Amino acid sequence: MSNRVQIFDTTLRDGEQVPGSQLTTEEKIVVASQLEKLGVDIIEAGFPVSSPGDFRSVVEISKVVREPIICALSRAVQGDIDAAANALEFAKRGRIHTGIGSSDIHIQHKFNTTREKILERAVSATKYAKSKIEDVEFYCEDAGRADLAFLSQLVEAVIAAGATVVNIPDTTGYCLPEQYGNRIKYIFEHVSNIHKATISIHCHNDLGLATANSLAGISQGARQVEVTINGIGERAGNTSLEEVVMAMKVHQEELGLETGINTEFIYPTSQLVSKMMRMPVQANKAIVGRNAFAHSSGIHQDGFLKNNLTYEIMSPQDVGVDKSDIVLTARSGRHALKHRFELLGFSFDKSALDELYTRFLEVADLKKEVNDADLVDLAKTAIPV
Ligand code: KIV
Ligand code: ZN
Repeated sequence: MSNRVQIFDTTLRDGEQVPGSQLTTEEKIVVASQLEKLGVDIIEAGFPVSSPGDFRSVVEISKVVREPIICALSRAVQGDIDAAANALEFAKRGRIHTGIGSSDIHIQHKFNTTREKILERAVSATKYAKSKIEDVEFYCEDAGRADLAFLSQLVEAVIAAGATVVNIPDTTGYCLPEQYGNRIKYIFEHVSNIHKATISIHCHNDLGLATANSLAGISQGARQVEVTINGIGERAGNTSLEEVVMAMKVHQEELGLETGINTEFIYPTSQLVSKMMRMPVQANKAIVGRNAFAHSSGIHQDGFLKNNLTYEIMSPQDVGVDKSDIVLTARSGRHALKHRFELLGFSFDKSALDELYTRFLEVADLKKEVNDADLVDLAKTAIPV
């Protein structure tokens, strides 16, 4: 089995479903071009049948972005598939991503039908998509809650009908990592033609488990993972590209997995998407949050200044962040204060520093963060050595 995991970015499709985050075609081209720089393998550029704007976005992205595969979403409906195929006309390499609900909850309440009819629709949609384009991915919506025997039957049928990638979404973010991993394992063990397709992971974050679930699926043999920048997406969002990619990179030795992501573009891409989609990144967000490389307690700062490995498992530069940050607060220690004074060009002997530290704590107790201007004021009250 290959150790290369394909990164399928759906920021512009599943991510863009976030209320208030809609982008114009021109904005989408900017994001798609940045995703190309980042090195994603597939860009899901939109859902062409959903609106003329989305159709146009897929067309225009296909013309400009040439390296990644450009993917268009469709339901298992001929009209959707036609729209997707037409929108992909200019793509160097296009993919249609079609699919249907696979859990009984979806089959009964959304489609008001039976498992047998779902199988028929899935096969006929896959064949129809295949008549339009070589690269067809099939999604089994709500696979996280589907009956496993039926899910395997569905996967087998769509592979036989021509799907080369089969997506097993945990649409509602319901599964625990072990459960999701076991679903993927079961599919590998029970689908006889599985070697003809790539299994794809698509997790939602309703329980904050999207990254853990995605890694569990990959560990069972899935070789494509569907992600968004900053984890944006419906409700609590999708799996974050930055989290899953950096987890594989940090644990490269044990996992032996690789991606084509140029990780130094992660932070700039996160900032671009956040600004364009008007979705602020939470300060403590893994990898790309403002505090992801900030150290504020005295114990951590002291360790970090002795050796950054004490409190950092990756370097900020690895993900495109300039440098780590030592934030001076009332929890900071003398070592961090001395270090910052030195950066500002001040040097003090021990007794001056002790005195300054006492005054620093008085200021820090009144403020959330002591900034460089405060420190310069403090330094002026002491005599530099
Ligand atoms: O979450 C989901 O099931 C989806 C599919 C449309 C792929 O986004
Ligand atoms: Zn989704």
